[in-house]
Order: sequence, then structure tokens, then C-alpha cells
Amino acid sequence: MTAAASIPHPNPLPARGEREPSDSEAGEGQRNVPVIAIDGPAASGKGTIAFNVATALRFHYLDSGALYRLIALRAMEQGIGVEDAQTLAVLARDADVTFEAGRAMLHGRDVADALRTEAVSTVASRIAVHGAVRGALLARQRAFREMPGLVAEGRDMGSVVFPDAKLKVFLTASAEARAERRYKQLIAKGISVNIDGLLRDIRERDIRDTTRAAAPLVAASDAKTLDTTELSIAEVTTAVLALYRERDTAA
Ligand code: DC
Repeated sequence: MTAAASIPHPNPLPARGEREPSDSEAGEGQRNVPVIAIDGPAASGKGTIAFNVATALRFHYLDSGALYRLIALRAMEQGIGVEDAQTLAVLARDADVTFEAGRAMLHGRDVADALRTEAVSTVASRIAVHGAVRGALLARQRAFREMPGLVAEGRDMGSVVFPDAKLKVFLTASAEARAERRYKQLIAKGISVNIDGLLRDIRERDIRDTTRAAAPLVAASDAKTLDTTELSIAEVTTAVLALYRERDTAA
């Protein structure tokens, strides 16, 4: 989902300096808050679907990829190398990132559009391989877990960040279908792109995201996998809501 930057984030990230819960505390008070974890590869539609589900249920919404993108952009601006895990981890912990009225802000600047470039996508994917960076973002992501509930989307929402999520969904779609979706989104925005280049980028990112040692993109063992290649956004949203209602009724 490329247009996530225009999605309103109902709750801001804690600003720098604000206290965030530790990993163990995050489990304590928040255990009763239901989480729907939606994971999947680049351009699988998870951003749009997660946002639609959050809106339908009036839940909070976390676009975890935006956090990786914000750190990537900051690193690019500061000339920090993608291999410098320790400096990147400090950045991930301390960077002043917030979401205001649906716009991603970096140290007070609206960077929502800058986050969606292919250059930032690539750097985000490359810095996401570092366990230290992922660890630094863990508490920040868990801080989104607030009543009445959270829909969290990314790569490891069900497997690592919210292992106790009430519902875990893993969205898949062929690389060709995903490249075509992204192509249409960019063309609609007036950005001219080459579909073969998009397909190559998506395949490269898939390989990096699925083969990294730290929290690789993988369906949690208890996740429901939905292949969206032939489905519309509305159909997938309805399917996820139906799965959640099933769980809710069974609970
Ligand atoms: O979802 P996205 O395309 O905006 O994510 C950008 C990159 O961030 C993606 O290539 C991998 C990384 N990422 C991750 O490793 N774990 C997440 N939960 C979300 C994103």
C-alpha cells in the first residue's frame, strides 16, 4: 500500500522524551486490548485493508512500515550508512517521530510524501534487517495498543510485536499483481513509472524481507492466510472483519 502516508493515524506516537512502557509492562496493562495483526509483503494491500478494518471497528491503527521509513529518511538525511546498526538503533529509539492528522512528522516536519519514494522504501528494507533497530522500535509499536483495540500492519505484527493478537491475518498476492497495483497507484498520482522496474524492486524487497535473520517476513503459525490476487479491497476487508467477528463471538 503506497498511500499509507495519507491515512489518518488516530493516535500519535509518544514524542521523544515521553516515557514508553517497557516490553514487560507493555504486556501487563495492555493484554485486554484486542489486536488484529495484518502482515504481508510489499504492496499486498495490507495498509488499505488494515485502515478500513480499523475504521469499521473504530480501533486505533498502526502502520509499522511508516516507522521504518521515518528512520530510513532520517538516516539518509544524516548520512548514516545502512550497515551502521548501532547508530541506526539510537536513531530508532530517539528520533522525534509523530503522526499528526494523518501526516508522518519527523522532527516537526511533514515528511509523509517523502516517505513513499522508492529510495526510502529500499533503505527502510535494508535497515530493517538489523535486530538492534527492530528492538529499538518494539516498545514504540506496542505503545499503540490502546482501548478499544488496535489494527497493526507490517511484516512481524503477528509473529513478534503482538504474538497474543486476537486475530492474525497474512495477506499474499503474486508479485505481478502487486507491481500492477503499485503502478496504478503511482500513475493515478501523476508519477510516471516503469512497471518492470517496480516488479524488480518488489521482488528484491521480498527476498530481503523474507530471508533476513531478524524477524523475517513469515506468516505466524496461527495466522489466517488470504491470497488477494483475485480479490478487491472491499472483499478482503469484509473477509477480515468476518474472521474477527468469528473470533469475537467464540471468545
Ligand atoms: O510496509 P512498508 O512497505 O511501508 O515497509 C517498509 C519496509 O520496512 C519494508 O520493506 C520492511 C520494513 N518493515 C519491517 O521490516 N517490519 C515491519 N513490521 C514493517 C516494515
